[in-house]
Amino acid sequence: MNTSIDTPTLESIKSKLEQHGQAHALQFWEELDLQQQQSLFSQLDKIDFDQLASLFASVAEDNKWAELAAKAEAPPAITLEDFANAATRDAARELGLKALRDGKLAMIVVAGGQGSRLGFDHPKGMYPIGPLSNRTLFQIFIDTIRARAAQAGAAIPLYIMTSPPTHDETIRFLTENKWFGADENDIKVFCQGTMPAVDANGKILLETKSKVFESPDGHGGTIKALEVSGCIADMKARGVEHVFYGQIDNPLVQICDPTLVGFHIQKQSELTSQVVRKTEPMQKVGNVVQVDGVVQIIEYSDLTEEPASQTRDDGSLKLWAGSIAVHIFKFDFLTRSLADADSLPFHRAHKKVPFLDAAGNRIDPESPNAYKFEKFIFDLLPAAKNAIVCEVDPAEGFCAVKNAPPAKAETPDHVKAAITALHRKWLHQAGAEIAEGVTIEIDPMFAVDREMVAEKVAAGTKFDTDTFLQAQ
Ligand code: UTP
Repeated sequence: MNTSIDTPTLESIKSKLEQHGQAHALQFWEELDLQQQQSLFSQLDKIDFDQLASLFASVAEDNKWAELAAKAEAPPAITLEDFANAATRDAARELGLKALRDGKLAMIVVAGGQGSRLGFDHPKGMYPIGPLSNRTLFQIFIDTIRARAAQAGAAIPLYIMTSPPTHDETIRFLTENKWFGADENDIKVFCQGTMPAVDANGKILLETKSKVFESPDGHGGTIKALEVSGCIADMKARGVEHVFYGQIDNPLVQICDPTLVGFHIQKQSELTSQVVRKTEPMQKVGNVVQVDGVVQIIEYSDLTEEPASQTRDDGSLKLWAGSIAVHIFKFDFLTRSLADADSLPFHRAHKKVPFLDAAGNRIDPESPNAYKFEKFIFDLLPAAKNAIVCEVDPAEGFCAVKNAPPAKAETPDHVKAAITALHRKWLHQAGAEIAEGVTIEIDPMFAVDREMVAEKVAAGTKFDTDTFLQAQ
């Protein structure tokens, strides 16, 4: 439909833009063809400029964080000691296995980020990370869920969140690969919303002459997007009671681990977060804390040295729990949260955003030039009843692909090494003998955890060469 935009409609958007000091968004209007004009118009029409102005104006609530940090205590926790205690662990595992057998679990994986630090030109889920198999992150996640579902004898529906920049390519990739053998009915791909970014003067940025730059609205956008896409209704129809949440860039996520799920159920937690024990006070992880009985996260950027460095009598850090963005939501809590999804606060991130200058030239900034606005899913924590954290050894549950070499951490090589180290450890624990320097990768369809490896690999089995252990 190639109708032109009528004059009053165009005038009204012009005046809205002028009012908000954003008239530059139309500076190339006369150069655009009709289709481009319509597309730019419809994008501008959807932007809430009042909200954008107030977000830009909002000064960081430094005082709020300082006050909270001063009162912060460690959160209620299931620690590695609890996981090591056979009786406690086995009771939790039984509960988790029952919930899985009863089909009460679903999985959300968020894959809407743009992976700018990795410099990979596709959705991050398409990154080949299997140390020997070169399998992609998407395949590792899907295979792990299929294996868990097979173990339970019940489906675990998977909901993959994309964003406008990653959506079409993700669908194409998964379709071309026949959903990696999963039942298509058990996977839904849904797309999160976007937000414009602004420069140091609060002005929106043009990505092209006919397009305002917008970026995904953060993983806090998940809740709204789940509802809008019909995924919440789908979960409800399936009788889902607990929703396991992880990020696509961490292939070590202990997806629907029965023991973890069991502790979450046993403690009647509405939101369970997996955490690692911080090794330094100012470590770059969100700090899960408890303030006046309310569990919440204080971002590392909002925590100052003094509260971060407090120790207990044994010298260990008082605020020890670092979030790894793995959560289990009670489904009822998720639906209750829908009402609050709009009120989750936006956080500001200073990032590099290429843009068109007034002369229409593309500028690739060398340092951060723009503020992006994102919602964070963990801002739901304070509203959750009985929230707990569960500790995990990072070697067993957390190693994310974030950076391209030559970065010193979180590069693909680090992650591949972490996968092999974990799989070697599982085999060792099963009593296998593995020669020094041998790379091991275990296909999730063969085994997804230590317990499954122990069932399948006999003590004394020898591994003398690089081995990709696959299901027969
Ligand atoms: P990161 O914040 O690490 O972002 O996201 P990223 O896009 O992967 O990488 P950078 O910062 O651009 O280099 C952590 C996880 O949250 C998801 C990402 O896909 C990743 O799994 N995410 C992030 C979303 O799904 N949507 C978002 O808006 C942001």
